[in-house]
Amino acid sequence: MTSVLNQANTNRPYSKQDWQQGYESQRREEAYWLKPVSGSVPKQLKGTLFRNGPGLLDIGGIPIKHPFDGDGMVCAFTFDKGNVYFRNRFVRTQGFLEEQAAGTILYRNVFGTQKTGGWWKNAFDFQFKNVANTNIIYWGGKLLALWEGGLPYRLDPHTLETLGTDQLEGVLEAEDAFAAHPWIEPQSVINNHQPCLINFYVDAGLSTTLHTYEFDSNFQLLRNQRHPVPGFAFIHDFAITPHYYIFFQNPVKFNPIPYALGLRGAGECIKFQPQQNTRIWVIPRNRDRGETVKQLEVNAGFIFHHGNAFELNEHQLCVDSICYADLPDVDPNSDFRDVDFEALDPGQLWRFTLNLDTATVEKELAEPRCCEFPTIHPQKVGQPYRYVFMGTAHQSRGNAPLQAILKYDWQTQQRHVWSAAPRGFVSEPTFVPKPEAETEDDGWVLTLIYNAAKHCSELVILAGSNLEEIARLELKYHIPYGLHGSWVSQCF
Ligand code: CO
Repeated sequence: MTSVLNQANTNRPYSKQDWQQGYESQRREEAYWLKPVSGSVPKQLKGTLFRNGPGLLDIGGIPIKHPFDGDGMVCAFTFDKGNVYFRNRFVRTQGFLEEQAAGTILYRNVFGTQKTGGWWKNAFDFQFKNVANTNIIYWGGKLLALWEGGLPYRLDPHTLETLGTDQLEGVLEAEDAFAAHPWIEPQSVINNHQPCLINFYVDAGLSTTLHTYEFDSNFQLLRNQRHPVPGFAFIHDFAITPHYYIFFQNPVKFNPIPYALGLRGAGECIKFQPQQNTRIWVIPRNRDRGETVKQLEVNAGFIFHHGNAFELNEHQLCVDSICYADLPDVDPNSDFRDVDFEALDPGQLWRFTLNLDTATVEKELAEPRCCEFPTIHPQKVGQPYRYVFMGTAHQSRGNAPLQAILKYDWQTQQRHVWSAAPRGFVSEPTFVPKPEAETEDDGWVLTLIYNAAKHCSELVILAGSNLEEIARLELKYHIPYGLHGSWVSQCF
């Protein structure tokens, strides 16, 4: 698609109605071969792309309050010999099954979706529905749909059939959770240079405990830690380096009273404090070295996602993150579809340099353009790296829906942009290296876009080197805007 502006909306490269249609519920579940509408799929591209996101934006016709509350629907795209096989299926969580049978909302959700029947039906009910909608990973022979407030749900990687919740060989208790942002460290220096999966869980309340876990490739636990931090913490993602876990504790206040009384969802009781500093916790992964946990502070805005982190030297760490100068409260009386994009601050890419000796932080704005969903070469996790790929707005300034993919080069500050505007909207990009790649960007960028012109989704394959479009495959129907996903080299 070219960057021709929509004539009906000369100020904007998109129409809001187009964007809103991408949030219609999708009830179909199918499996079929995708057809390229342009280009051809590289034969070397072999493996499976898994994606997760809210599939239902209503329950029995009752709209939910926020897409983060939507029941998880997983998509799988298997690439082999230039062909792509697609299937999608809901994660059949306990809440999904019960609510679909009842045809109505039976659970409270984190982001404001409440049980029908008024506040007295919700008061003092602190049980959230596990929507299993945020990410999906394949590790240790398990395909796991992740949601940060509850246990992972295990799926069959071939059929996407739900097998039930998974406590990871007893590492997690029934009431524990597992965040939706694990990292796969390709060669862990503290774990015999083996690949490992590193994740966390935030047990948040009036005080908070950060739990961290490292697993080997058979899902055997290598390390775990608990670290208490003062106050309530809203932490969606973290960063790792070969020797540290890094948590940015966003400056928020939580007022539990309207939530407890059933008047508001928990997410609607969180208030961002833009004037306050973010607390940064740097936790040594290997506690045998006798190093202590360090606390640093910086005004960082609100952070959902980190792109990567690495050790510049023994004393300094770099963390690259998408930061929002301000974050509006979740208004219990407004519909998320009516969002006024222009009134909000864009997410922007920043680099934080943490000095562990002086406990000081320097920050630098790298990319002022509105961006989200940073992703990197999988072998560069926790390591110095050159390129980051992100979803971005079509326009270079201001806040807008993500319609384009941006490649940013930390070495030269050069940017490449591929845009799906005016009628296309992108999701998180995934970078897949070529089997014989010689440079960090020699590979493909995959993204699922919503094409409002056809009211369907399309999988787009771009060249990692210059974001040139290589191929586009059309789905039979649309997939509502998703959250996160992952690539594995196995063909399921
Ligand atoms: Co996320």
